[in-house]
Amino acid sequence: MLRLYILLGLMWWTSSDKRTGCLKFSDLSLGDAFIDLFKPRIRTTMIMYTKPFANCGEPVFGQNYILNTNFNITKKTVWIIHGYRPTGSPPSWLHTFLERLLKKEDVNIIVVDWNWGATTLIYQRAVLNTRKVAMFLKEHIDKMLRFGASLNSFHFIGVSLGAHISGFVGQMFKGKLGRITGLDPAGPYFSGKPPYKRLDYTDAQFVDVIHSDSNALGIKQPLGHIDFYPNGGKTQPGCPKSIFSGASFIKCDHQRAVQLFMTSLEAKCDLTAYPCYSHKDYRNGKCTLCGEFNPKPCPKLGYYVDQWKDILIERQPPGMNVYFDTADKEPFCMYHYILDIVILENVTKEGYMKIKLIDIYGKVEESKIKSYRAAYPINEEVSILAGFYYDFKDISKIVLTYSQKNAKFKCLKCKYKIHHIKLRSLTYPERPQLCRYDFVLKENVETTFKPHSCTPTGM
Ligand SMILES: *[C@@H]1O[C@H](CO)[C@@H](O)[C@H](O)[C@H]1NC(C)=O
Ligand SMILES: *[C@@H]1O[C@H](CO)[C@@H](O)[C@H](O)[C@H]1NC(C)=O
Repeated sequence: MLRLYILLGLMWWTSSDKRTGCLKFSDLSLGDAFIDLFKPRIRTTMIMYTKPFANCGEPVFGQNYILNTNFNITKKTVWIIHGYRPTGSPPSWLHTFLERLLKKEDVNIIVVDWNWGATTLIYQRAVLNTRKVAMFLKEHIDKMLRFGASLNSFHFIGVSLGAHISGFVGQMFKGKLGRITGLDPAGPYFSGKPPYKRLDYTDAQFVDVIHSDSNALGIKQPLGHIDFYPNGGKTQPGCPKSIFSGASFIKCDHQRAVQLFMTSLEAKCDLTAYPCYSHKDYRNGKCTLCGEFNPKPCPKLGYYVDQWKDILIERQPPGMNVYFDTADKEPFCMYHYILDIVILENVTKEGYMKIKLIDIYGKVEESKIKSYRAAYPINEEVSILAGFYYDFKDISKIVLTYSQKNAKFKCLKCKYKIHHIKLRSLTYPERPQLCRYDFVLKENVETTFKPHSCTPTGM
């Protein structure tokens, strides 16, 4: 019996963390999700983090709703709101997110913990709770405003259902929040709904959205001033493809939006995205220019995308879909190229071009972007998108393999006369373009050649 009391005492001590006096994100379990079936509960807590107390969550308000003196109203405030949590555990990404953000920016952070309300086996119940959480936040924000905080300086970052909660809060403040970032906003029960029933670009001065699982837990339709669709927005590289991988099969694609956003705080490389009508057009190399942002480059995903805000919010009608590919793990960057090619003879209807690069150190990589079949009309330039995980700085050789789409007409002896190819880096447009003129590609045969820089003298 004594042992039981000691154990219970120990559990109480660890869960409330009275020792440090720090607020912690509630740690629930699948058991709580079961209990919720019979006894629905909802409780929302706001946990504040600031630079001097990066490792210790504090309440936003003290007694009698006096604003915590560590909350600096002249600084920006980042709100982080999680989504549906059927197993009740704290979000696995939360700690890293806080750490990176506070390392980069001196801001107030408020983590909205609505785990009691998100931990349920009934998704629809969590959906209904989003309005209640938004109401709770509205009331508390009103109090913060009385202490001189400003809506302008609020940046809401909402994950999944949290994105719609952010939208509802923004709606109640008539779009005056500074910014909302939606990280794979939830799709089920929100898809196709009118703007007031979901996150929408009218909910804040600037709304940026990342869609990483739009065919399952996320939403497909664009919602913001800018909508990022990494790898097309449906399935993400490096995520398990079968149900036998367990929970990570279900949430990997969905969580990728959070991972990508967090990567932008590390600044190891840029996740540049390209405005385009569709993912297919992007894949076909049709969208590589960002003239409307001139002299700025194409927009980069993440925390700093507000550098493009002024132009994005002026667009009529608002909204811009941007596409890009990523690698399968941190820092997720892919190095994009366009291969322009002009074929002179023996044009087939449609075919695939496999592209490999070799650098002066012998590093070899094949493009990770499976080229769409493309038609190669005579004497017309066709652009093929290529992407590599490795950043080739000194390319020494290009290897091309052409094959026709239709295996029935596979022509083993076919040769194609190439007028020229030009390889240009999209990621680093300032790097010299590489060319090669007058050569022949044999069907299904790897052809390796040395390119030279495309200067007029090189021709
Ligand atoms: C609040 O932030 C401003 C600007 O970042 C700074 O100048 C000021 O000293 C801060 N106030 C307190 C009480 O820390
Ligand atoms: C074009 O293909 C035919 C066979 O289909 C072949 O005889 C001819 O040499 C090819 N021309 C070139 C330039 O490769």
